[in-house]
Amino acid sequence: MSAYIIDWLNLLLRWAHLITGIAWIGASFYFVWLDNSLETPTEDNKKRGFGGQLSSIHAGGFYEVAKYKLAPPMMPQHLHWFKWEAYSTWITGFFLLALMFYVGAETYLIDSSKMSLNPLTAIAISLGTLAGGWIVYDLLCKSPLSKNGWLLGIILLSFVALVAWGLNQIFSDRAAYLHVGALIGTCMAANVFFVIMPGQKALVAAVEKGDAPDPKYAAASKVRSVHNNYLTLPILFLMISNHYPMTYGHPQAWAVLMAILLIGAWTRHFFNLKHKGIVKPGILISAAIATLILAWAIAPKALPKPAAASSDPVSIVTNEEALSIVQQRCASCHSATPTDDIFKAAPGGVKLDTEQEMMQWAPRIMARSVSSKDMPFMNKTAMTDEERIKLGTWITAQ
Ligand code: HEC
Repeated sequence: MSAYIIDWLNLLLRWAHLITGIAWIGASFYFVWLDNSLETPTEDNKKRGFGGQLSSIHAGGFYEVAKYKLAPPMMPQHLHWFKWEAYSTWITGFFLLALMFYVGAETYLIDSSKMSLNPLTAIAISLGTLAGGWIVYDLLCKSPLSKNGWLLGIILLSFVALVAWGLNQIFSDRAAYLHVGALIGTCMAANVFFVIMPGQKALVAAVEKGDAPDPKYAAASKVRSVHNNYLTLPILFLMISNHYPMTYGHPQAWAVLMAILLIGAWTRHFFNLKHKGIVKPGILISAAIATLILAWAIAPKALPKPAAASSDPVSIVTNEEALSIVQQRCASCHSATPTDDIFKAAPGGVKLDTEQEMMQWAPRIMARSVSSKDMPFMNKTAMTDEERIKLGTWITAQ
């Protein structure tokens, strides 16, 4: 598929994923806020079976919301369900993952300096991680361990750390991070599909029959909702993580990921408490301090400057000549040891020090510096049109 079409698909899927993700997490934020902010109902509302109520104003309208203590005496004609936000976020996310890492497996997913997988094996590992990870998570939640929320939490965090570490041994750095995000997103959406929605259906069925709902559904849904709530901020980080090679490209990338996951969940905790009227600024302050410590701990070390490469234009574009152009125009940023004043870690994880790396990135070099003139970034290294043509000629001949 041409790089141009792939870029369009990428744009449309990413856009849709962002829109649906905002709808899902926005609804989640709203309902957590609503539930935690409910006030004692008036005597009148109590008689009607309400357990909490809340008044608000938004966009020029006053809103009156009340929550039943148990359930309405009979089913309302129109009951709004919130599920497609979750499903469509997962579907768009999965297709985006497939486009980036399956269609582009050789560039984005496989890092032959770690493990020289063939694309099909790598894709199978990716799919296996998503399905297998959900199965392990689901079994842990259904096991007796779930009676102790903290113990379950610690075991689940260790599991995420193990997956993050393991994937980093197998896949490229950016793919490893994105896959942890995809696994967490899969578990969150599957929680909605396999646990929370069946629970709600059972609740509705019980109300329709006039029975008391089975409390086992409410208990299971509660555990999954708590997980989903605390994972909202971490998953948003993982979605944007590929812009930040200082995180995914760190030698202990899995530990950096876990630190950010914990900081995100801890920050979410501040808001959960705040909605209940409990304001603990210490949580936000400690999260900020932890972020500063993390930033300090993973700061890049100063590197020695390599000698400048020379370029000698010739009429036939050899591998050597292509490499020399790339080294002169790209490697100040795209290197294991960048010399650029701003980009201290190879941007996008793209390193162009060797012929093998140049081969690996050939389609992207074409897309970014031949088909478009988007790279070098701001044409900082003053690449000429002649050099772009030469690189294009070389790539086309591969
Ligand atoms: C001044 C620094 C700098 C230079 C020089 C530079 N780049 Fe980049 N490059 C970046 C930054 C920043 C990003 C990440 C932002 C992005 O993806 O657009 C990036 C991302 C990339 C990506 C990954 C994004 C993708 O589409 O896969 C590729 C490939 C790339 N650059 C190729 C090149 C090539 C080829 C050259 C030389 C012709 C080059 N760059 C020169 C800064 C630079």
